[in-house]
Amino acid sequence: MLREITEQPAVVGRLLDAAREVVAVAGALRRRDPAAVIFTARGSSDNAAVYGKYLIEATLGIPCGLAAPSVVTLYERPPRLRGGVVVALSQSGESPDVVEYVRAARRQGALTVGVTNAPASALAGATHHTLLLHAGPEHSVAATKTYVAQLTVLAMLVSAWAREVALERGLMGLPALLEQALALEPVARETAPRYRHMEECLVTARGYNYATALEAALKLKETCYVAAEALSAADLLHGPIAVVEHGFPVLLFALRGRALSFMQQVAARLAGLGAELITITDDEPLPGAAVTLRLPQASSGSAFPEALTPVPAIVPAQLLAYHLSVVRGVNPDVPRGLRKVTRTR
Ligand code: F6R
Repeated sequence: MLREITEQPAVVGRLLDAAREVVAVAGALRRRDPAAVIFTARGSSDNAAVYGKYLIEATLGIPCGLAAPSVVTLYERPPRLRGGVVVALSQSGESPDVVEYVRAARRQGALTVGVTNAPASALAGATHHTLLLHAGPEHSVAATKTYVAQLTVLAMLVSAWAREVALERGLMGLPALLEQALALEPVARETAPRYRHMEECLVTARGYNYATALEAALKLKETCYVAAEALSAADLLHGPIAVVEHGFPVLLFALRGRALSFMQQVAARLAGLGAELITITDDEPLPGAAVTLRLPQASSGSAFPEALTPVPAIVPAQLLAYHLSVVRGVNPDVPRGLRKVTRTR
């Protein structure tokens, strides 16, 4: 897992070199000009889909939704997808319900795009277009580099589809930012023992980084067996904050952009409740935080698009999950409860 986390700058660099494939698919999407985009995915890939939803809606104004594959597989009632676009994300390309959803969508006349690390997979064979992750084999059961690759491909796709120069420029800075994020490894290692006995926690963020909160919580569950629940910071304030008492651990993401001031206010409220705040930020450290994992700011400063912050922001959380797993005596490469390919129908 650690090796694959450290490969991430190179993976993203390779992907950026493969931009031609992405531009061709972006052209097909532009010509289709869909009224809606539906993502279908499971697990980490589903978290990447949440990112894709924010990105497409905020950049292109096209409404997006996350599919419920069971509607096709369990209930055999595919929704009407004709004229739409279905984007399927699966690192293995073998999650059966994701593949079945795509087949049902294609039969109906939807334009289908698969995003996968496996060129010979069932998913690659089922979709009109395939975007490869170029991540190299992912051996660790917990997905890390393929998640970051999925975010990057989605950002490349939307950047080309919308002809967004700021996104395109920001993408070029990602390998360096990822490299700098990896420099937080010693902080993650030193922080982990403090949470050796943690049983539960909340993970929160808002906007684009809601996906980061979901993915960080998934990694903490899978590799550390911590009951980590991800909530949008807005949803947290709608009631669930009631669980936060003195010493309750909350992992909070506060990245520069439109969501930052809201996250600062939520952090202050949580600190006031006595929460054990672990923060990941690329801004000033948050008052009241017990632990700060501080990411570097992009050298382009405030011009770096908030839309790309989820790519470096997940890295300290991956490193923390890895080291926490190790101090808890778990082998993060073969955690209980997870296989590399999960065959749900
Ligand atoms: C998370 C993880 C799983 C997978 C899920 C989907 O670390 O590994 O949750 O993300 O089983 O797998 P793919 O992407 O192969 O469809």
